[in-house]
Amino acid sequence: MTLAPGHESADGSAAVLSARPPSAPPGGGCPFLRGATAAQTNGQEGQRLRALGPAPVVELPGAVQARAVVDFALAERLSAGPQVSRDAARHWPGDREGARSVDGVIARWTGSHNALNSYGDDHRELRAPIAAALTRRRVEAMTPVIESIVQDVLDGLDGVGAERNVDLVQSYALPVPHEVITRLLGVPAEHLTAFSAAAAGLFDASAGAEEMARSIGAVLALLDQLVGGAREHPGDNLVGDLVRAADASGNPLSDAALRDQLMLIIVAGTETTVHAIGTLLVHLLSHPDQLALVTSGQVSMEDALTESLRLRPPIASVPLRFAAWQFEDARSGEQFGEGEPILIHIAGANLDPERYEDPERFDVRREGGSRSLAFGYGPHVCPGAALATREIVIAVTRFLERYPHARLALAPELLEQTASFISNGYTSIAVELS
Ligand code: HEM
Repeated sequence: MTLAPGHESADGSAAVLSARPPSAPPGGGCPFLRGATAAQTNGQEGQRLRALGPAPVVELPGAVQARAVVDFALAERLSAGPQVSRDAARHWPGDREGARSVDGVIARWTGSHNALNSYGDDHRELRAPIAAALTRRRVEAMTPVIESIVQDVLDGLDGVGAERNVDLVQSYALPVPHEVITRLLGVPAEHLTAFSAAAAGLFDASAGAEEMARSIGAVLALLDQLVGGAREHPGDNLVGDLVRAADASGNPLSDAALRDQLMLIIVAGTETTVHAIGTLLVHLLSHPDQLALVTSGQVSMEDALTESLRLRPPIASVPLRFAAWQFEDARSGEQFGEGEPILIHIAGANLDPERYEDPERFDVRREGGSRSLAFGYGPHVCPGAALATREIVIAVTRFLERYPHARLALAPELLEQTASFISNGYTSIAVELS
């Protein structure tokens, strides 16, 4: 399927989705939609897709056609059930036919063997050590570390000068999660830059294959060292926990498998948290009434975060799922062919008016709560959610305590956003500190 003239993305990036309903109306006339661009958010794109149905067909980069699920209840059912798989090698005929080689973005997300891209028993085996390493105990142990990292980064901001504008992303939202993941893994500080580059690169739809291979290679080499070290002397950090849990499972993972899980944790846990911190600050600074509810203690920062993640989830969608067999969703009547790619459109589903009243309003006291698909749902639900929540709450609370008069220098709609249908956040946030 080709895009209608005038509907290509300017740079051919992954930012563009086109869509048609599952079955074309008689006589043709398939509607096309533009995807996320500088002029439109992923959420707005999701709203437009909804007009076509709960799960219209969209075209992804590399001419991969997928069902974009924007109906909240359907998204939950498909995320939870065994009829949908994340294992491309097993359940995607397109994978075998070489579709992965057509486009780098989809290949990057479906091509590695890790907890995210696995199914059934294989998934349970790969996920168990990760879950065992991301426990409440680890979150509690990390809390003073996060507090101290946040204070150091804030002290650095003080040095910039309160009278000057700062870019909150570069100077705050980014260094905090990168330092946290580095400390969590026990990575030597000098490798932080390589991690940062690889994580950013994996979300960068315009990165060339060589650039991608270089940054991934550098990080994988370092992870090999970490795993090797932890095999000899497992430390009190996430790598040590992962090695211990995998060894204790009776089905120990190879060094390469452990390394791939660590890579997933870095990728899944870094840029997401960067966007969550930046977006929550943008939401609060642009809604003084809501901010007052939080700073006065009437509403917790956790609740404000949950609402912020609903309204603008850091991951707009995670490629890719596949129908493990042909099935019909009984509630919606939607039919899925065996092997059909499925994209849970988190940003769209989180704005489903059937689920949330006035879904585009930022409301920290939302009736019925703000729980959403931001951390996923079902067997792949994010195992880092508790850690991420603790980190974001500390980072945003301490920032607002240090700079109670901080103001956005630009209206939120003028802030540059990530050009991607996967990563969802602001690339820079100009703020006057006082
Ligand atoms: C605000 C921050 C975060 C958000 C919004 C987020 C969101 C998500 C989402 C949407 C998924 C996919 C769920 C699915 O496909 O059903 C996921 C999976 C995952 N996340 Fe997070 N995440 C965040 C932070 C973290 C952190 C801090 C870590 C680890 C330190 C982490 C580790 C993982 C892992 C390992 C998976 C794969 C789990 C599996 O497939 O079983 N995430 N996350």
